[in-house]
Amino acid sequence: MDRHIREFLNKLSYACIAIGTLTLILLFLETPETCVPPDAPAKPHHRFPRSSCDTSSREVVTVEKKNKRLWSTRSWQNKVESHVRFFRAFRDLGLLQNHSKVLCVSAGAGHEVMGLSQMGVDDVTGTELVDSPPLVSRADPHNLPFFENVFDLAFTAHFAEALFPSRFVSEMERTVRPGGVCVLVVEECGGEEVKDIAGLFRRSRFVSAVNVTLTGLRMTRIIMKIKISP
Ligand SMILES: *[C@@H]1O[C@H](CO)[C@@H](O)[C@H](O)[C@H]1NC(C)=O
Repeated sequence: MDRHIREFLNKLSYACIAIGTLTLILLFLETPETCVPPDAPAKPHHRFPRSSCDTSSREVVTVEKKNKRLWSTRSWQNKVESHVRFFRAFRDLGLLQNHSKVLCVSAGAGHEVMGLSQMGVDDVTGTELVDSPPLVSRADPHNLPFFENVFDLAFTAHFAEALFPSRFVSEMERTVRPGGVCVLVVEECGGEEVKDIAGLFRRSRFVSAVNVTLTGLRMTRIIMKIKISP
């Protein structure tokens, strides 16, 4: 009785091993149909994906197409034009040239980057926590991925959103060369607030604070100049 059971169990395990091996071999030989489209359709946007691993229909909206759509909207163009007007007035102060190296911190979708480029400034870098290629690349404003003294001008219109204002300011100061300027555009404010903001700058002297209009909002433009000798 005992022997019979042992023999039976042995046979059963041999059978199981055989079935398992066969299944593995079959799985190995089988090509999954859904992930390898045998005939790529000429116009992938004319059909829907057949399964979750069918990628051919997801390439419809390329970055270029998305940007073309975004940049042709009235609201985008208005904002860019507003930045161009802002930077023209700023250029009249003699602080911006075509050959200036400009850094736009927390540049959002990149209106200021496009505005500056349209004006003929040829070296403009835009950064934001979320990148928007090709105008804006990803960088933490509290830890900018640039060496010291590489920019002539750092600009931001989003200082109010900084988590650590003094760290944000010190990173702007670090990346701008001595004699270069940091420009902050903040919600319209009075002398006390301007003084508080200017006080965050350790390596710069206060140049001016004036009220301006940017993208239809009443703002205050604060200019700080990096000291030549510390
Ligand atoms: C700056 O570039 C713009 C556009 O390319 C050009 O029209 C303008 O004359 C340039 N300004 C200077 C001072 O070279």
